[in-house]
Amino acid sequence: MTVVRSREVHLVRRPEGTPVHDDIALVTVDVEAGAGQVLVRNTAMSVEPYMRGRMSVDKGSYVEPYELNAPMDGFVTGVVEWSDAPDVPVGSVVVHEYGWREYVALAPSDVDVVDTDGLKATDYLGVLGQTGLTAWVGMNVVGRFKEGDTVFVSSAAGGVGAVAGQLAKAKGCVVIGSCGSADKVKSVVDDFGFDAAFDYHDGTVRVLLREALEKVDRPGLDLYYDNVGAEHLEAAIREMNDNGAIALCGAISVYNATEVVPGPRNLLLMIWRRLRMEGFIVTDHEDKRPQFLEEMTDLVRRGVVTSPETYVGHGIEEAFDGFLALLDGGAVIGKALVSLGTDA
Ligand SMILES: NC(=O)c1ccc[n+]([C@@H]2O[C@H](COP(=O)([O-])OP(=O)(O)OC[C@H]3O[C@@H](n4cnc5c(N)ncnc54)[C@H](OP(=O)(O)O)[C@@H]3O)[C@@H](O)[C@H]2O)c1
Repeated sequence: MTVVRSREVHLVRRPEGTPVHDDIALVTVDVEAGAGQVLVRNTAMSVEPYMRGRMSVDKGSYVEPYELNAPMDGFVTGVVEWSDAPDVPVGSVVVHEYGWREYVALAPSDVDVVDTDGLKATDYLGVLGQTGLTAWVGMNVVGRFKEGDTVFVSSAAGGVGAVAGQLAKAKGCVVIGSCGSADKVKSVVDDFGFDAAFDYHDGTVRVLLREALEKVDRPGLDLYYDNVGAEHLEAAIREMNDNGAIALCGAISVYNATEVVPGPRNLLLMIWRRLRMEGFIVTDHEDKRPQFLEEMTDLVRRGVVTSPETYVGHGIEEAFDGFLALLDGGAVIGKALVSLGTDA
């Protein structure tokens, strides 16, 4: 048995609108690992928009809300510091779902030991983790993308968007992205290889998207990968080609809304143009993970898909501010992470 002192972030109040510091508490606890368990020191934690949903009680949501006065959770990398499990020895690099804390005692079945040969452990939070799987499922299973398609990806500099767009480029699609700053536009084009991108603050999305289509010399969209919802979705519907598809992945523009947000006003076009719009939840597609991992690991190792990441916080005391920074956008490019140790 071993005991270690650890800090963890508890939700103590359900946020109204944008979360604030009084909604959480940093709590010090003793973590005890015993027979058959491993003690993991967490190294880098993923912060993700869905966590905002889990802070509230929403009967329509697909995930359980976080409990009050208990540590929040989410994907995290770690190193095994003590082990009573022969299959997961001390020193193993692991990924598991008990983030928002410095140390955790777990059963070996709760951790995945990851292969870091030529890869970063944090790749398993981003491009090779739930983020990458979300992009892969949205493009392959829901969007059913094909070589030559014209694809539009919103939040294109984000964790999911950057991977979705790179997958489309790898497939031979023409790809347009939208994002929230000039720096992100540059990164989306120069680093992720999109054919065109725009900052949605520079005008109405409707006009900016039309201009981007003219720039890439394509009449309309075959696939829209929606991370944002609202104005972006309405603009994309307007530009869809006949028989096009819309993969509804997220709606970050409305996550902090305190009132019901109106839907797209042009749904009639869905009929006239024989469009398909399908929402999906990545956890329904676990069966695809082996195929995804094989394909994506190869793409990453060959440098076809890069795995962008931004550290939005250093240390557990900055985890919540990092989460707020992610929701806000700002300078976050790719997967948003909080380092929990110097070896993240
Ligand atoms: N369906 C699923 O199973 C599933 C799984 C994982 C994630 N998701 C969803 O996928 C989307 C992307 O997830 P992610 O983890 O990669 O996060 P992300 O795209 O990195 O999200 C953060 C980014 O959202 C953008 N954003 C914030 N407010 C916005 C607004 N009002 N309008 C437009 N963009 C805004 C910001 O970038 P800018 O600076 O560009 O505005 C910010 O950097 C999210 O909506 C998430 O909820 C869905």
